Amino acid sequence: MSTDTRDALREQVRERYAEAARAVTSGGSGCCGDSGSADFGESLYSAEQRGELPDAAALASLGCGNPTAVAELREGEVVLDLGSGGGIDVILSAKRVGPTGVAYGLDMTDEMLALAQRNARDAGVSNVHFLKGEIESIPLPAESVDVVISNCVINLSTDKAAVLAEIGRVLRSGGRLGISDIVAEDHLTPDERAERGSWCGCVAGALSRAEYVAGLEAAGFEKINVELTHRVADGVHGAIVKGVKST
Ligand SMILES: C[S@@+](CC[C@H](N)C(=O)[O-])C[C@H]1O[C@@H](n2cnc3c(N)ncnc32)[C@H](O)[C@@H]1O
Repeated sequence: MSTDTRDALREQVRERYAEAARAVTSGGSGCCGDSGSADFGESLYSAEQRGELPDAAALASLGCGNPTAVAELREGEVVLDLGSGGGIDVILSAKRVGPTGVAYGLDMTDEMLALAQRNARDAGVSNVHFLKGEIESIPLPAESVDVVISNCVINLSTDKAAVLAEIGRVLRSGGRLGISDIVAEDHLTPDERAERGSWCGCVAGALSRAEYVAGLEAAGFEKINVELTHRVADGVHGAIVKGVKST
């Protein structure tokens, strides 16, 4: 992919999610996925978790899973959510790690960061920090994070190798990755993925299962597991991706 194509796609993604944030702010809602082209299904938050969130945060969920259910967060841990959107997973994580822990949310879209700040205030959590930046260049020091989570974002990146390398850099040795993402079956070519949905709709940019595993191995992960959880299009699935940074 040329640099111009990458820049243009990133701008399209930013505009799409700025619009989604404005829709939530004005009382509507949006979803990762193109209306009519893919079924992203209900997100997998329990009624108990929804009860912990202000209405606007629950409405702002644009993910394809529930990484906070996957990541097994513990008191005192430092958690980083890549592409934190309206902040739902950051707020839930902040409650799990408690006052001795910290939850960071990283997003490149100003409108999403503003929505997340408001939602965190309404939820009454103070151990959260929202950072502006790109997941290909994470603005945190090396080995400063215990757990990286993400919900339906890595497929949107135009440089997945950089994202996976950055996750490996910021995690401490033994640190965990627990994310939800869209993943293609291995036989689908990039063109076939693009036939099933757009890049901004979280389908065209999906890695295959084998590409995810190879990328995480190259970034220094072990105990890698990619579990396909629900179909969103022919040969394309919601998935849970886990790994541990090698010691
Ligand atoms: C599909 S939404 C998911 C939001 C949130 N994780 C959720 O589950 O509701 C994608 C989010 O990732 C952000 N994003 C996409 N690509 C990004 C990148 N390269 N760097 C930082 N943020 C990015 C968008 O601004 C948007 O807020």
